[in-house]
Amino acid sequence: MSDIFSDLFPKIGRSEFIDRYWPNTYYYENGELQRLNTFIHELLDIQPTTLLDILECEVDVLSNDGSRYSFVSAKDSKPFYDQAESMIYIKDLSQFSCINTMISQLSDAIGIDRKYIYCEGFLAKKGVRVDTHFDHETNFMIQLTGEKDWQVAINNDLPNPLKAFFVNNPNRFYDHGKHPYTGERLPSEMPIDHQSFVVYPGTVTYLPRGYWHNTYTHSDSFSIGIVIDPPTNIELFTSVLKSNLLKSELARKHPLYKPNSEHQFDNDINKLKKEIINEINNISSKDLYQYLNKN
Ligand SMILES: [Fe+2]
Repeated sequence: MSDIFSDLFPKIGRSEFIDRYWPNTYYYENGELQRLNTFIHELLDIQPTTLLDILECEVDVLSNDGSRYSFVSAKDSKPFYDQAESMIYIKDLSQFSCINTMISQLSDAIGIDRKYIYCEGFLAKKGVRVDTHFDHETNFMIQLTGEKDWQVAINNDLPNPLKAFFVNNPNRFYDHGKHPYTGERLPSEMPIDHQSFVVYPGTVTYLPRGYWHNTYTHSDSFSIGIVIDPPTNIELFTSVLKSNLLKSELARKHPLYKPNSEHQFDNDINKLKKEIINEINNISSKDLYQYLNKN
């Protein structure tokens, strides 16, 4: 069966990509950009400053020192691009129909509803470094113009993170760079067992969720990333559980009781526990999958 993976990774094809790499192992493949024409043709001949003029989404400007600023209007970020010190992070390229085609095909290939998939873009002049970080989503990155160094490493420090973490901005989503569940300090640099490679126009890099990575542009660079960000298993499970439980009068009750009647609250909670256990046992993975694709 042919699908988008055969276009992204023609050397290994769909079955090898699925067997060996999807979803936990990184992979990159160099190749002719032309093979991806269906998915990117509207973006190929646009100059970066023209792109920033026509974009209908917000952008963020990421500087080497870890600072980050949002611009509601993309064209206001142009001075930062021209100063050649910053990465312009484009949040949503769905105004381009070729991008929507790619999202639909990827959605079909992985069986995840397209509402959990979007496309972002990255513009940077020569000499821009994006410091070591991990993201919380699964990514397919396509290099359109320019060359970039990449370093990547598996994330054994915080698998399946819920938030991105930048070593040069450790307070953004984390308390002084601490692991949210153990309190230990997260690393302040790329793990020593990282891999290095260079991407060129046409290179596609598959970056599993949470992988450590950093980049450095050798020349003016434009790349896009298809991002897959579905709910977590626990979000899915608790959403279905809550929606089933809300049919129960007891579950919908406010905790309002007469003074000195803690035993009534205690009774209600014990009854509710039984209802919750009953509902938990009734939920099947099929229910969760249906919920995932209709909400
Ligand atoms: Fe990233």
